Amino acid sequence: MSSLGRLTRHAEARLERLRAAGQHRVLRPTHRATDARASRAGRDLISFCDNDYLSLSCDPRLIHAACEAARHYGVGAGASRLITGDCPLNSVLEQRLAAMKGMEACLVFGSGYLANIGTIPALVGRNDTILLDELSHSCMHAGARLSGAEIRVFRHNDVSHAAELMQEATGQVLLLTETVFSMDGDLAPIEELAALCERHDAWLMSDDAHGLGIMEKPNPALIQMGTLSKAAGAYGGYVCAPASVIDMLVSRARSLVYTTGLPAPILAAAITALDIMHAEPQRAAQAKANAALFCQLLDLPPPESVIVPVIVGEEARAMTISAALEAEGYLVTAIRPPTVPEGTSRLRVTFASGHSEEDVRRLSEALSGVMAA
Ligand SMILES: Cc1ncc(COP(=O)(O)O)c(C=O)c1O
Repeated sequence: MSSLGRLTRHAEARLERLRAAGQHRVLRPTHRATDARASRAGRDLISFCDNDYLSLSCDPRLIHAACEAARHYGVGAGASRLITGDCPLNSVLEQRLAAMKGMEACLVFGSGYLANIGTIPALVGRNDTILLDELSHSCMHAGARLSGAEIRVFRHNDVSHAAELMQEATGQVLLLTETVFSMDGDLAPIEELAALCERHDAWLMSDDAHGLGIMEKPNPALIQMGTLSKAAGAYGGYVCAPASVIDMLVSRARSLVYTTGLPAPILAAAITALDIMHAEPQRAAQAKANAALFCQLLDLPPPESVIVPVIVGEEARAMTISAALEAEGYLVTAIRPPTVPEGTSRLRVTFASGHSEEDVRRLSEALSGVMAA
């Protein structure tokens, strides 16, 4: 058999296994629009599944900023920030993020994923230990593996378990957690984790991907990463840290050194988004009020963020409910293993400032109907 034949046979065998396990995923063309509206296959839908919590991704002010920056700086960055010379919008964005987070300095990366996989291995290595919350995002796990450090996973939000593992840890310890957990919407006990780290000379790094602009509260983590692709409605990742750490990352984070910088239009859109977050706090308040109303209508515990998991257990059931909701005009994605643990397949319902109270009421009615069927 030719190499091409072996390659396609390999892919087909894998696809077969994925289909048999109900884990084959497909990309579905969807046109997103303002205020959580979308259309797919000619049908109008309301999206309750994206991370555009402040409904900024289609905001005319971000679009205008992006167009102006494209005219002024062009579209592509040309090469790595270290090679072509740094587009000045990077440092504007970095200064704004550092000020917002009350940190000394900031470094913008191509995405949140790249920020994590570049930063973690730059901080610790083979003789060190990483303590990681079991529900931390896949890119924190990937960054941890790339570092070569010993990885010890602690039970979700269980500070006592983290403390136990801390006792046995060797070398420099880096503790990784999310501030707002992406699939459960709950918050990390960040103050307790910081105190634990302080007692053991460990470093705390937080992933604030789902907190930026929504759940802004004091964060004692020494290293704080996040993304501009969610509430900021744009794209890109960042790390805030002491100035010397940032300086070190510029030379040591491979996912900064060896990848092309963000396009200027995206940087300009992200800067505009930070302005809007600051000037229009009612957006975050509206998104949170929408999540609270939904939980109240469905008798769910009050939400800790704008992400509400509706756990249904079986993968197939989650998929059926998601499809039935789409048929009624709502996009609510089913999240299943390996993204979440076996037996915890769920609908991940996310709320945005662009949803009206009526949208939320109608979704909760539709969901109750579909779940009862
Ligand atoms: C917790 C968390 N961290 C990091 C990322 C990666 O961010 P980005 O989409 O900017 O690569 C995500 C995105 O899904 C996330 O949910």
